[in-house]
Amino acid sequence: SEETVPLSRFETNRALNPIYESLEKKVQIAREAQGRPLTLAEKILYGHLEDPTQKVVPGESYIKVLPDRVAMQDATAQMATLQFISAGLPRTAVPTTIHCDHLITAENGASKDLEQASITNKEVFDFLSSAAKKFGMGFWKPGSGIIHQIVLENYAFPGGLMIGTDSHTPNAGGLGMVAIGVGGADAVDVMSGLAWEVKAPKIYGVHLTGKFHDWGSPKDVICKVAEILTVKGGTGAIIEYFGPGVESLSCTGMATICNMGAEIGATTSLFRYNERMDRYLKATGRQGIANLAKKYSKLLQPDEGCKYHKVIEIDLDKLEPMINGPFSPDLGHTVSKIRDDAKNAGYPMKLSAGLVGSCTNSSYEDLTRVASICKQALDKGVKMKSIFTINPGSEQIRATIERDGLLEIFEAVGAVVLANACGPCIGQWNRKDVKKGEPNSIFTSFNRNFAMRNDGNPKTHAFVTSPELVTAFALAGTLDFDPQKDKIKGPNGEEFKLEPPNGQELPEKGFLTGRDTFQPPQESPEGVELKVSPTSERLQLLEPFPAWNGKDFIDMPILIKVKGKCTTDHISMAGPWLKYRGHLDNISNNMFIGAINAENGKANHVKNQLTGEYGPVPDTARAYKAAGMPWIVIGDENYGEGSSREHAALEPRHLGGVAILVRSFARIHETNLKKQGLLPLTFANSADYDRISPEDRISILGLKDLKPGKPLTVRVKKQNGDTFDIQVNHSFSEEQFEWFKHGSALNKIKEDLKA
Ligand code: F3S
Repeated sequence: SEETVPLSRFETNRALNPIYESLEKKVQIAREAQGRPLTLAEKILYGHLEDPTQKVVPGESYIKVLPDRVAMQDATAQMATLQFISAGLPRTAVPTTIHCDHLITAENGASKDLEQASITNKEVFDFLSSAAKKFGMGFWKPGSGIIHQIVLENYAFPGGLMIGTDSHTPNAGGLGMVAIGVGGADAVDVMSGLAWEVKAPKIYGVHLTGKFHDWGSPKDVICKVAEILTVKGGTGAIIEYFGPGVESLSCTGMATICNMGAEIGATTSLFRYNERMDRYLKATGRQGIANLAKKYSKLLQPDEGCKYHKVIEIDLDKLEPMINGPFSPDLGHTVSKIRDDAKNAGYPMKLSAGLVGSCTNSSYEDLTRVASICKQALDKGVKMKSIFTINPGSEQIRATIERDGLLEIFEAVGAVVLANACGPCIGQWNRKDVKKGEPNSIFTSFNRNFAMRNDGNPKTHAFVTSPELVTAFALAGTLDFDPQKDKIKGPNGEEFKLEPPNGQELPEKGFLTGRDTFQPPQESPEGVELKVSPTSERLQLLEPFPAWNGKDFIDMPILIKVKGKCTTDHISMAGPWLKYRGHLDNISNNMFIGAINAENGKANHVKNQLTGEYGPVPDTARAYKAAGMPWIVIGDENYGEGSSREHAALEPRHLGGVAILVRSFARIHETNLKKQGLLPLTFANSADYDRISPEDRISILGLKDLKPGKPLTVRVKKQNGDTFDIQVNHSFSEEQFEWFKHGSALNKIKEDLKA
């Protein structure tokens, strides 16, 4: 009989075998239901359907899938965990891990920065660690590494389906997994054992031919795809890579490509199961998984004759190394053109910093390629001309490169080795060399390069490229350089050309595990105390929202009639507010502060209908709440676009909102509103938006008889007492209406569990 293979080395009590058995069966059913051969992404996704007999129309149907695991990073895990706690479940229903990587500021090098982060974020780390113990989640302490690198090293497996509360979760596609970034509320559903609902994505193919030359690297592939598809071009699609070009990619190289699929809006990206994945699995101590995947290798390939919605051709023989930016990851330049493009566009030519790391490019292979460039410089007595930092992707990588002598090389050439964490990639960079507002250029091996992302300076021109090009340019200190033909001057005037990088896919002597930074899920969680101080400013346990009282809402004030764009950022701003992500009451002080009031064109300036005075939106909402008055928001098109940030739904609910009436919703936000017990409504006649004034009173009638597909009546009362009725639509299913009745989806889950 077949050997039982544990899901990971930390989950020896869970087997991978039944997952593959179920996948095989369900794929067969799903293939028959679709009546056509399936792409690999479809096989994995439909092979995890709650109902594999569903006929799916990609781009139209909504599907419910049952993921194999959940991963969360420390910034998003706070609210997700708080919500999970309020569901009242004893353990998470699927294997879940928490990773402390976002909250470590890069300033003085790895050990000092870690020490500082442990002090600054002590209560957050203590809370997450205690919750992980209590609810059976794996907990990766600060310094263990970046979430996606840890997942690739330990948890990802070919054919698996996972969700993660971070946009770069697709990194695991490098190991043939369908891995999707979601909001905390979705993670809570899955952790509670419910299915995850998503619009069935279209599948795009990228056909790779040829092979890399000289300075060519996986980063060029995704930078090229980004240039072709632009930042929106992958929206609603999974990108599947194949073709003979894949042979020149390592597993971590494939992960680099999948990771940055997030930059083009793709749901996720993945590669077909192949030899390099097998090699990586074995090198990371997962021989059993490698054997099992090999046994199922046919299942882990697309069906013969499957069709992609579109196919992009990339010939690696002709692909020039790419440098994308500034300010947008789809603005592509080839390495030979960057100097001219930069001069023409007036970008600062001096390179102030080169940053290597992030979940995109911090693998062992990446760092050996960087080291091979640094070594050449050292041999000629040359040091970095720009600031140069390196974040190893994980403790395993750090320990291994230390043993293999790379750390020494980095330090000798003038690099600062930072903690195994996100660091400057998420703006955790206490930068001192340039002032805010000072124009400057930086090269990074990261994925995002929006203004202010790395150092908070809107004038920092950030370019994303491969780690080796970051290194070469940091040695040159200027954008006026092409390592393919230009020379660098040594201290004695001798000039030399850098040889293309020469890395090692995997460490010859194997990986070291390094310091033990893992806290396993506790077997007997009884008695574990959750650490949340009642006086904390950053964490607050959630009170369940009250159930609906069964009555219509009559004569509600309009908190704000929003004009134009209202993204989740307008509703719940990020930046300085991030630190309150685990404290609903404190973060609610940012509610709608970015939204524009249709009455006066101003942000955060609305009339309190009780006093007639103008004030900030959150204060006004609090005043209505204190007066026992439910309120409503009126909005425009595509309300709630942007992200799946659940705070944008939690905050209005917390401050007493009951309904959001708009021209149209971004779907994820609409679902999030329903989950938190609000009524998302849309104008049946879009012109009715203009008939409503901010001081009108609104009643929602006939709620008791709410039925799927049946419109509701909204009565608008003008200040002079005149009224008129309009029709509004909703998209509640029977099941979702239960969420509203119970006060939230979590309340409903809790009740179901009791029953
Ligand atoms: Fe962290 Fe940057 Fe990746 S914030 S998870 S390293 S995109």
